[in-house]
Amino acid sequence: MPGAKNSVLKLMAATLLANGRYEISNVPGIDDVATMGELLAALGVTSYLDPARPDVLVMENSGSITPEAPYELVERIRASIVVLGPLLARCGVARVSMPGGDDFGKRPIDMHLKGLEALGATFELRRGYIEARTEGLHGADITLDFPSVGATENILMAAVVAKGTTVIDNAAREPEVADLCNFLNSMGASIEGVGSPTLSVHGVPQSDLSAADHAVVPDRVQAATYLAAVAVCQGEVVVRGARAEHMEMYLRRLREMGVQTTPQQDGILVYADSRRLRSLDVQTLPYPGFATDYKPLIVTLLAVADGVGIVTENLYPGRFRYVEELQRLGADIRTDGHHAVVRGVSALEGAPVRAPDIRAGAALVVAGLAAVGETLISDVHHVDRGYDDLVGRLASLGADIERIR
Ligand code: UD1
Repeated sequence: MPGAKNSVLKLMAATLLANGRYEISNVPGIDDVATMGELLAALGVTSYLDPARPDVLVMENSGSITPEAPYELVERIRASIVVLGPLLARCGVARVSMPGGDDFGKRPIDMHLKGLEALGATFELRRGYIEARTEGLHGADITLDFPSVGATENILMAAVVAKGTTVIDNAAREPEVADLCNFLNSMGASIEGVGSPTLSVHGVPQSDLSAADHAVVPDRVQAATYLAAVAVCQGEVVVRGARAEHMEMYLRRLREMGVQTTPQQDGILVYADSRRLRSLDVQTLPYPGFATDYKPLIVTLLAVADGVGIVTENLYPGRFRYVEELQRLGADIRTDGHHAVVRGVSALEGAPVRAPDIRAGAALVVAGLAAVGETLISDVHHVDRGYDDLVGRLASLGADIERIR
């Protein structure tokens, strides 16, 4: 399994913290890595893929950092807000375009800013930019209202060089957050409680941090996509490199639906026979709960399962844009606020559909595999942001799928 998008982008941001040459391996071949690379280049950290080892991203921080993240680059990738913490830590000032444009109302960054304020930063919002400064960061006790992934990461990357100890309570526990903690620790940071809801960060002088090499944690959402594909197509596949311990809730739900999943030393064996999948109810929650990023996949499985399943979204109310596309394929789904009621049909039928975002786009690919006849998916550039050769990998498993320019 290629490395996780939601980890590698943050590891790339962390290289702002210390000078030197980094080798990040198991880097996924996805568009978001290139976009983040452009943003970091504008800030002063260069990167290139090693021609001999295409999964290795070499990054060089020569120490000349311009702490200004421009609108044109930030608006392309919301995760870029995580440069705020390391820029503040490194330069004492930062000017970062507000992420997400119209999305801002729905995906606020108040917890990022509140946490960084507790560490001694001040902010002004001016003409679409966050202007941040600090006279020196110091440790603080921070309890997050919600275990936000991005807020935890931004606070962490500032706290590693703050004076004194920072305790982040109700921290996000996602494997990608733990991956960032491990990377920061290998750079010389001192973070305790990795993978737990309480992170203690003992600040070290910035000059004590140095470049490090790191392998990105495997992508659990890409892995989940292949498991879902097998669940609708039947058969037996080993998803190599997938880590069962990072996707327990997803595997549990698959088993309840009738799909066998067996953790192996280096991957997950998935087996689905010709019996119809069984419906169930699912709600999304922060890790270790059922991830919101798996939701379009489970809705797709429920669309062809036997019975009725209710899916409840607790992180991003109203994030069901792909349901209309699934309906075009014949799925029987009704949404009401943050619930979707999915009545399984015996078969979907191929139709032209549009990928509204990364995860929904991948779920439509799975739906297309399940459907009788041809499904033509447009706007697949969304899928390229987060999937490393989805078409090639599925085709190698025998799927009848091709990319049309
Ligand atoms: C990350 C992932 C995304 C995943 C999400 C939840 C990346 C690049 N993206 O996004 O794929 O779906 O975690 O697992 O890693 N919130 C606030 N205020 C804040 C921050 C967040 O209200 O300051 C809210 C958000 O609007 C959302 C919820 O908290 O409703 C979760 O957001 P968060 O965990 O921060 O997600 P991201 O880091 O943006």
